[in-house]
Amino acid sequence: MINKSKICYILTSLLAVLAAVGIIYSFKFISIGIQGHQIDKFVKHAGYYQLNQIESQSEDGSFTAILSWVKGKKEKELNSSPVVKDLRVTFKVDANDECQFKITDLSNSRFHLPENEPYPFTKQRFSKKQQEFNLFETEISQVGQKFYFELRRKSTKEIIFSTKNFPIYFTDKYIEVTTQMKDSMIFGLGDRRTDFLLKSGKYSLWTRDAADIDNGTPGKEIYGFHPMYLRRDIVNNQFQVTLFRNYYGMQVDYEQNSHLTYKVIGGNIDFKFFISDSNPENSIKLYHNYINGWILHPFWSSGFHQCRWGYKNSDMLMDVWNNYNKYEIPFDSLWTDIDYMYKYQDFTIDFERFNITQMQQIYNLSDPNGVHWSSIVDVGIALDSDAAEKGLEMNVFIQSAKTNQSLIGKVWPGKTYFPDFNHPNSTEFWYDGLKNLSSYGISQDGIWIDMNEFSNFVPGELVPSESLVEKIKSFFAIDQPALPFNPLGIYFSNQNSIFKIQLNNQINMFQLIYEGLQRIDHKTLSLDSKHYSGYDQGILYNSSNGYIPTQYDFHNLNGFGEGIATYKAAQKLGKKLTFILSRSTAVGSGRYVQHWNGDGYSTWEYMKLSIPSIMNFNMYGIPFNGDDICGLMGDATAEVCARWQQLGSLYPFSRNHNNNDAPSQEPYVFKDHPYVLSSTIKTLNVRYQLLKFYYHLFVKANGLGTIFRPLFWSFSNDDNAYTYETQFMVGDYLMAAPVVQPGNAIKQSTHSCVYIPKGESFYNFYDYTEYKEGEHCYEVPFDSVLPLYIKSGKIVHIQDKQKVLRSRFLDNTFTLMIVLDENNYSSGSMLTIDDYNRDENIISNCIQNYNCVIDLFAQGKLNENNLFQVELRIQQEKQNTTYQIILIDKLIVIGAKANGKSYQKTINLNTNPWIIDRNDLQFNFSFQI
Ligand code: GLC
Repeated sequence: MINKSKICYILTSLLAVLAAVGIIYSFKFISIGIQGHQIDKFVKHAGYYQLNQIESQSEDGSFTAILSWVKGKKEKELNSSPVVKDLRVTFKVDANDECQFKITDLSNSRFHLPENEPYPFTKQRFSKKQQEFNLFETEISQVGQKFYFELRRKSTKEIIFSTKNFPIYFTDKYIEVTTQMKDSMIFGLGDRRTDFLLKSGKYSLWTRDAADIDNGTPGKEIYGFHPMYLRRDIVNNQFQVTLFRNYYGMQVDYEQNSHLTYKVIGGNIDFKFFISDSNPENSIKLYHNYINGWILHPFWSSGFHQCRWGYKNSDMLMDVWNNYNKYEIPFDSLWTDIDYMYKYQDFTIDFERFNITQMQQIYNLSDPNGVHWSSIVDVGIALDSDAAEKGLEMNVFIQSAKTNQSLIGKVWPGKTYFPDFNHPNSTEFWYDGLKNLSSYGISQDGIWIDMNEFSNFVPGELVPSESLVEKIKSFFAIDQPALPFNPLGIYFSNQNSIFKIQLNNQINMFQLIYEGLQRIDHKTLSLDSKHYSGYDQGILYNSSNGYIPTQYDFHNLNGFGEGIATYKAAQKLGKKLTFILSRSTAVGSGRYVQHWNGDGYSTWEYMKLSIPSIMNFNMYGIPFNGDDICGLMGDATAEVCARWQQLGSLYPFSRNHNNNDAPSQEPYVFKDHPYVLSSTIKTLNVRYQLLKFYYHLFVKANGLGTIFRPLFWSFSNDDNAYTYETQFMVGDYLMAAPVVQPGNAIKQSTHSCVYIPKGESFYNFYDYTEYKEGEHCYEVPFDSVLPLYIKSGKIVHIQDKQKVLRSRFLDNTFTLMIVLDENNYSSGSMLTIDDYNRDENIISNCIQNYNCVIDLFAQGKLNENNLFQVELRIQQEKQNTTYQIILIDKLIVIGAKANGKSYQKTINLNTNPWIIDRNDLQFNFSFQI
């Protein structure tokens, strides 16, 4: 019997053959005709908005105004997207360094997300605002003239944002706004895998399951949605952040030193500006404050992690665990990917393959070798599973507009439903599932939420009752729904093949692939599918006027919504500090989840680009972030893996992760290249020496600002610093210069360089050698640690006395590395808590009252007897500091300047350690030089 799907299969095969011989090549013209051209035609003759009236003005510089559309003589209406003729402009001064510029439809009836939690909202920081204190000034056109808006920095007159001489279009499904971009460098506009400094190009913003590298080609963005950029005014070396507060799909066309255009398929024009000074961190902190800050991860999660897709049973997990123990590789968590589930169904364990007794042994934290269990939960709920039954009962799935039933897509388990995280029951549903998973006698300490863009292996959805004709129609459809503009863009990679027919292995069906053109529902849900539309109790949005929010409105918030549900569930399950690793994120996700960079290849290029990605996520307010060490897909060579382990040893989140069909890449499997194992152990030992130091940076930042940063963050005046994108800073203390290129296989070594910014000194972390300004090159053996330097003038606390294989066994005794600057001065900070493993201890002493931080100041000088004296003062950063006892039992003084020379000295205080147990302590020590 030939059924319908077989006919479809035969038909598409036939088409493939026809395509191969070029017969349906003429479709090329159809696709060009449809894509983007509606807008091009409209824009050609379109009119403009005129400033009609200033409605209100206030003392602080805020104002509102009314615009109206002046139709172009030959202007043609956009059929699917009429012009919104009457608009209101709002400029609001939120603080002297923060303001908002908005254009909405006059009736303000378009779908927009509220300005309160969980979305970013303005925090009142000043009771009285006065124009004279504003760091910015504005200019708008005259009444009766074509409207423009300009925002400048008052002190330098540099343009922060200006629409002068650029058009503004505001139609139902297409909005375009451009700002001037002279003398600027920008960073951000993610999620994409690209260099840190953005180059000219067309950048799509649309959450997407893809492993692409984006060099400015539309449709190459990846999992998250962060329409913000940090901008540096090159002439004045001043920084500011601009957020486009619009969650719809968009494309940003950027021309360096010229302009930047947003082309967006819905919502309003809504910009927030954060304006600080020559320190980029200050602008970013304002931004993070607006997006509700970021959450602290539990201490154990800052240890090393081992994962792979392909640990198919608990014997395999046992084997990995035994090897880690045997080779004494420090680690804190062994992960399970989708393998552990029964038929890839969420909230289940396949007990046939995963023996619970074995798992309980590995994940027993009372055992010195025990590690934490982190495991994956995918967003798609398998149709025939218990969870699906429950979800249907609770009515929590996204609804198909075609069937008016729960939408069906396809992910790992086959057919799946997708939770509607706006539905009031969704939180309970999600909690229920996670509770189920925690009822098997092992605790899921790390929750990994994946495929949450939402990823779907069929375009849009599977419609069970679809007729053959409809199937063919949808096969050939170029855009779903028909859009005046597709933000995933049109581009021609090969003029001769605009489309091809490809076998999609995941679903064993042929699909029509438009080369250079992606359907907007490619690999995701139908955009007309529907969400909960009650007027209250919506988790993400409460409807008014009976509006039914769709995936068109919510697509970029899918991962964000799941993050919130998972966070709430984890809290309800009793977790205090949560570790939720989410692939898809949006503005404000850092308040709920952590992140890794998603899928990539085991290549030098991907390794290198992991660095700007982590820097980007620090800007996006999710600083606890990392990349799959040794790369997910493909065969990691020994050299790539060794270098990646070295680099990854200082990722904030450090995890070796591998794909199902790639050869093993645990550090001990490279038997012919023992340097992989030995360098991994060495470099991870350094991570664990620094683990409390690294964690203290997160605690001290208190949910605002970056930790893993580009070099220029600390040296914004040095233009050269902007060109070294693979060197990174950890706080303002450490700088790493990882090796990210292949070396000499015979010498087993790589020629590599480090750049030291102008006028600066750094000291090698391992041998304390001083490096002064300029580029220094040297050989780095394959078998080595990550090249690492301490900034002059900094005190870094490390733990170097014992080898520790699990973070929970790090004690409270520290070594201070005191790196004196040219004035023999240095400073740092520490935490005054003795138990990092008890979340409550950290929450009550460090977060809620924010009083577990002490500052350290060291001043050295040479006295007459050639005795170098150092005075170390310790002061609490805030009031009412908790003092749980910590000890200092070793000092390493580096860069002590005396008689025109620089000295270093190690002093052991073993028998008489310094005890830090109260405020205002002073310690003195001296040494002969
Ligand atoms: C996705 C994830 C990847 C995971 C795989 C299987 O591709 O990004 O990390 O291993 O799914 O779950």
